[in-house]
Amino acid sequence: MAITMPVVPATPEAIKQAAQAVARGDIVAFPTETVYGLGANALDARAVVKVFAAKERPRFNPLIVHVLGLAEAEAYAIVGAAAQTLADTFWPGPLSLVLKQRPGCPIADLASAGLDTIALRTPAHPVARSLLAEAKLPIVAPSANRSGRISPTTAAHVEAELGDIPAMILDGGPCPLGLESTVVSLAGLAPTLLRLGALPREAIETVLGQKLLQAQSDEPVASPGQLATHYAPETKLRLGATSVSSNEALLAFGPHVPKDAATTINLSASGDLKEAAARLFGALRELDQAGAATIAVMPIPNQGLGEAINDRLQRAACRAPPIGASAHSE
Ligand code: TXA
Ligand code: MG
Repeated sequence: MAITMPVVPATPEAIKQAAQAVARGDIVAFPTETVYGLGANALDARAVVKVFAAKERPRFNPLIVHVLGLAEAEAYAIVGAAAQTLADTFWPGPLSLVLKQRPGCPIADLASAGLDTIALRTPAHPVARSLLAEAKLPIVAPSANRSGRISPTTAAHVEAELGDIPAMILDGGPCPLGLESTVVSLAGLAPTLLRLGALPREAIETVLGQKLLQAQSDEPVASPGQLATHYAPETKLRLGATSVSSNEALLAFGPHVPKDAATTINLSASGDLKEAAARLFGALRELDQAGAATIAVMPIPNQGLGEAINDRLQRAACRAPPIGASAHSE
C-alpha cells in the first residue's frame, strides 16, 4: 500500500523520491519559478490521464511539457530559428513555446490533446530542475489547482486544494514570480501570444523584432487558458476601485490606499509590478476567505507585467461557470 506523504521540504532526498514516483507513473506536485505544478511522466499516457482526472480538467486542453533545455526540446519538437532565439534568450525561465511536434514524438498524445503541436517549457526553479534531472524524463505539469481555480504559489495552497491526490508535494517555498508562464505559439504562420504571463510581452517582441499576434479565443488552436472564466475566486471582484466601502475587502496597489475596507492586502506599497505579481494569487485566496461582500481591486498600470496581472484579474472577475459547464473553464 502506498504511504501518503504530506507536504515535504524539497531536500535532495525528497526530490529523488519524487523522481522515482514520477518514473513509477505517480503524480507529484513541485515548485517552479511561476506557480506550483502537478507533474507526471509525459511519456506515460496512464500517468497523464491521472493529471487530467486530479484537476478535473477537460481533455481537449493540452498540457505543458517541462524539459531541462533546448536539446531535450529538440527531441520532441521542430525548433526553428525563432524558437531557438527565444529559448537562447529566455530559457530557463517563464516562457512556454508551442511548436510543431517532431514525427514519432514519444510524448503521450493526450498531453497535447491530440494536436500536432506541443508546448515546451524549461523551468528555472532549482527544485524543478533537480526533479527533471533526477527523473531523466519529460514532465507534464499544469498548475496544481483544480481546473478553473486560482493557481497555487505555495505548497500549502496545493495541499488545501488537492489534498493527498499527489503522491508527494515538494515544498520549495513561495514561487518567486507568482504568475504562470507566458505561452507563445511558433507553430503557425506568425508568432502568436496564447497566454500573457510572467515574461512580459514586450521582452519577447524586442527579441523577435516583431509584434506578437494576439490569438482570438474562437480560433481552433487558441490556448484554452485564454477563456474568460479562468482563475475564479468565490467572491465577486470589483475592478478599477478608487474608493471602497466597509463591507468590502480591498486588493490595493501603490502608496495611496483608501482606508475604509474591512480587510486590505497591498500587492505592492511601492507600486512594484514584480512584487505585485508574486503576491497576486496568494492575496486573492486570502481575501476570498475574508467573508467580504466583494473584493475591490485598485487600478494597476497596464504595462510590462501589469498586462498579465490585469489579465488574471479580469478572468477572476468573471464568475465561475455552473458545475457541469466546466468544459470551458480551463
Ligand atoms: O507557469 C506555467 O506554465 C505552469 C507551471 C507549472 O509550469 N504551468 C501551467 O500549465 O500553467 P497549465 O496547464 O495550467 O497551462 C497550460 C497552458 C494552457 O492555457 C494550455 O491551453 C496551453 O498552455 N497549451 C498547452 N499546450 C498547448 C498547445 N499544444 N497548443 C496551444 N496551447 C497549449
Ligand atoms: Mg493552470
